[in-house]
Amino acid sequence: MLRTPLIAVSYKVYSEGMGEKALRLTKIIEKVAKDFDHTVAIIPNLVDLRMVAENTELPVFAQHIDPYSPGSHTGSITAEMIKDAGAVGTMINHSEKRMILADIDAAIKRAKDLGLETMVCTNNVDVTGAVAALGPTYVAIEPPELIGGDISVSTAKPEVVSGSVEVVKRINPEVKVLCGAGVKKKEDVTKAMELGASGVLLASGIVKAKDPEKVMRSLLEGLDDSL
Ligand code: G3P
Repeated sequence: MLRTPLIAVSYKVYSEGMGEKALRLTKIIEKVAKDFDHTVAIIPNLVDLRMVAENTELPVFAQHIDPYSPGSHTGSITAEMIKDAGAVGTMINHSEKRMILADIDAAIKRAKDLGLETMVCTNNVDVTGAVAALGPTYVAIEPPELIGGDISVSTAKPEVVSGSVEVVKRINPEVKVLCGAGVKKKEDVTKAMELGASGVLLASGIVKAKDPEKVMRSLLEGLDDSL
């Protein structure tokens, strides 16, 4: 398992994090990460996954897998494909790519069988509890209404973060809780850590930032401050 605390940066399918720009952004994140003793994972779009993974030392996650084995599933993404492309894990069930519970379970199992980590996104405390029972590496709680906004989950809905930490402790304490949505600054990270999270997941705060290097540095300083 990657060492926590962890900052995971998703490039979603933003044009600012695509193709050559994905590589440029990755180099910026990598450079800043080297100045700190924390884990930074990146989550490029699925088409850029192999190219990015081949050009970075940062751990790379996929944004999604389907619950299928290799075979006749046109247009699908298998755990084998992302592993071969260089990913160490995958996000599953992002709010922008929701799955039914049975498929989340199957996708986690397929990823685990290949030694991949799983970061399953959840939208509230109840869903966090249900997903924790499936035994992913991480749950990432993200209230959908806060995604892409300027107010972080740790400020707008602290009870959702602490409630998720609580429920996971009860149901499956081995699972690490990340939180995301609206994370953009140092205080968002320190607050998340105070609430019991093992790290944060973010996208627009870095990918769409005017100065991603500065933001990345301040988020990592936030982790420093919380230890
Ligand atoms: O995948 C992380 C994401 O949903 C959070 O997005 O833009 O609010 O950091 P953002």
